[in-house]
Amino acid sequence: MRIADEWRSMLRRFAEHLRGERTSDLGAATMTVAASAYTDPARFELERTRLFREQPLLVGFSRDLPAAGDRMCFDEAGVPVVVARAEDGGVRAFLNLCPHRGTRLVETCERSRRLTCPLHGWSFDLAGRLVGMAQPAAFDGLDRARHGLVALPAAEWAGMIFVRATPGPAIDVPGFLGTMAPLLEALDLGRLERVRLDRMPVATNWKAALDTFAEAYHVPVLHAESLATNLVPFVMLFDHYGRHHRYSGPGLELADRLARPEAEWPTGGYQAVHYLFPNTTIAFTHAFDGATPVASMFRLFPGASVGEAVSLGSTYRRAGEGDVPDEQISHMHDVVCAIVRDEDYRVANASWPSLAAAPPGLRLVLGRSEPLLQRYHRDIADAIGLPLPE
Ligand code: FES
Repeated sequence: MRIADEWRSMLRRFAEHLRGERTSDLGAATMTVAASAYTDPARFELERTRLFREQPLLVGFSRDLPAAGDRMCFDEAGVPVVVARAEDGGVRAFLNLCPHRGTRLVETCERSRRLTCPLHGWSFDLAGRLVGMAQPAAFDGLDRARHGLVALPAAEWAGMIFVRATPGPAIDVPGFLGTMAPLLEALDLGRLERVRLDRMPVATNWKAALDTFAEAYHVPVLHAESLATNLVPFVMLFDHYGRHHRYSGPGLELADRLARPEAEWPTGGYQAVHYLFPNTTIAFTHAFDGATPVASMFRLFPGASVGEAVSLGSTYRRAGEGDVPDEQISHMHDVVCAIVRDEDYRVANASWPSLAAAPPGLRLVLGRSEPLLQRYHRDIADAIGLPLPE
């Protein structure tokens, strides 16, 4: 797949919608979902286990760990995980736990060829093997080979790094991504370099927060003074790739250009929001110059209770592309996070007490303009083995 070809086919679909009446892709039918899909503690516990401990989760991109010894801590799945670039160039993930006495092993992320415990100093190589300890005579008879780190499945494919927070079989990334794999591969994610990462607590159910990233129906109202000032309202493309999805809407300037003959349309400028099951959105857009490619990723995780969540927001640029300095990309990150925090999460947080007080049978409505929500709520229900209360 070539992104230029993909973008051209999307432009034709935009143009079709914009021609005459401003129409949009729509789902097949309106559906309802009971408020308990968000508020039921038993469902929440199943999601924490079946989704966040048993499914592959995107933890970052290849350039987050550029060299052997680079590592990152990943705690948001509910299990402390450390992910490292190994000597052989691959990625490894381990439970962030020292097998001597159970101490949290890694607390900082500077590059190191050894993972060294802060309590007594046992050290482990990047394959998780126990390779050093003080006063080894005090551990006579210990079979070091049996006291390495607890390995977790980790896989890197097309510039993405996935981890599963429970020991088990290897992750088949192309299999997990299914029909979305060629699109993500074509997006050349291995060249993404992180500029910023922010962690934001959210005072609502993780799916209620995620909902705000998976539909644009709210944009003309909630974001009337921000995002909506540059977007054509209610014109959307929706594409489904199994449990993963994509949506995209044209900006006002693009809509003007699409009114001209196709030969005058832009050849580049792909922009869309990609949803990766179960909790990740990656928006491909541009910096304020309108040309430097930027990727904005938001991930939602369950918090300590059914009405709490954690959001990780990060902004990437593509290595070697665009003239905009990192400082401007960083400023863009602040602007995007402010919109998310002060507009999306402000409303989501304020809504939680109302949602939690809803009668169990109250049916909320997911319209034909919200097909991604319809699908992912059903897919989550399917993945946890608990029917969606529709
Ligand atoms: Fe880690 Fe003792 S607990 S070295």
